[in-house]
Amino acid sequence: MTAFNSSSNYGENAFIKSKPEMLESIYNTTDVFPYWVADMDFQVAEPITQELNRLVERGVYSYEFHEQAVFEALSKWYSKRHGLNLSSDQFVQVPGVLPGIALLLRQFTNEGDGVLIHTPAYHQFANLVNKAGRQVVNSPLINDGQRYQIDFDGMEQQIIDQQVKTMIFCNPHNPTGRVWTPQEIEQVIEIAKRHDVLIISDEVHSDIIFEGHSFTSLTSFDYDKVIALIGSPAKTFGMHSISNGYVYTNNNELFEAFKTNVVAMYLDHGNAFSTFATVAAFEKGGEWLDGMLVYLQDTVKWITEFAEQRIPQLKVFQPQGTYQVWFDFSGLDFSEEELKNVVFEQAKMGLTPGGWFGAQSPNFMRMNIATSRDNIEQSFTALADAIDGFERGSQTCSTCCDSGASKSCC
Ligand SMILES: Cc1ncc(COP(=O)(O)O)c(C=O)c1O
Repeated sequence: MTAFNSSSNYGENAFIKSKPEMLESIYNTTDVFPYWVADMDFQVAEPITQELNRLVERGVYSYEFHEQAVFEALSKWYSKRHGLNLSSDQFVQVPGVLPGIALLLRQFTNEGDGVLIHTPAYHQFANLVNKAGRQVVNSPLINDGQRYQIDFDGMEQQIIDQQVKTMIFCNPHNPTGRVWTPQEIEQVIEIAKRHDVLIISDEVHSDIIFEGHSFTSLTSFDYDKVIALIGSPAKTFGMHSISNGYVYTNNNELFEAFKTNVVAMYLDHGNAFSTFATVAAFEKGGEWLDGMLVYLQDTVKWITEFAEQRIPQLKVFQPQGTYQVWFDFSGLDFSEEELKNVVFEQAKMGLTPGGWFGAQSPNFMRMNIATSRDNIEQSFTALADAIDGFERGSQTCSTCCDSGASKSCC
């Protein structure tokens, strides 16, 4: 438990999430605690550190590429942990998950093609599609007040109207924390089959699954136009700056075509640090991961109970997986500016603005909870105090008007 409760000292590090210029550009202040990047503060599992130390102590860095060892470790891991049968011969290693999707889009779609994503969507999907010169086609999820559902009819209509031949499916879903059920996935696949849509299935959060839910890979369905990003040492074991991406498909034609392309660009090598650390993680990191999952679920419980008591207007979407929590602040009846003022400036919480994930989410925010409970408790206490203070202030006309708020008393 101690491994998860100790806080990082960002001051000594140049982590992206705490870079002053990044914070300034997003929050207009550097004085926020960074909850916006989906990485983690936890010390990695001991076997990973041991393996990295072994390589450093060896002090010799001859060419050494062992991607097959990683594929075998991944294949064993998915069989043991998720009952999933992945052939170690069907993986292609790429420099990262996002580079993997970027390569897939360029190889299997044409310029100007529509690529469907389910919004609110992990913001990099739209960036990847746009930067590849393709068109983003949004399929908004339905928020039923408790959780998000796929709008199957709406999605099919978009595919027809926009002549979509490719979708990026996020499973489990960032930012809503939904772990899609086999029935939901079946329906997505049926629609894809009807319209011959290639599914790029981003399954990087597959190991962060909470009690009562289980991960279902799209690769386990009878549809050959599925190509998955699966097996994420970054998300599962906190190896964000030292990991690769893994592309998997059961379709030999897609596999050969993609592998040939990646190999031709010499993008498949990886490096010894990431290779040995990844093998150690998937072979020996299971217990550490179990501990982290318990810690994360306790954190969600703490946040939920705290919000019920102190911020009942805040809607906390219960994540079924991922370490992202999606919040709806609409119940507070703040304008977008007021919300930013309270969350960023007063509570000093660097949450990810909902607008990043799709235009329909301005009063929503995402929080990465993979940090110590102390940090979380401190931030939520500050948030509750800031909201109380703001509401009290709004009852006094002068305070309200002076702060530029748009409360009815003005
Ligand atoms: C759904 C999803 N895909 C891809 C990524 C990026 O993964 P990586 O940093 O391993 O490329 C993230 C990171 O947050 C993510 O949430």
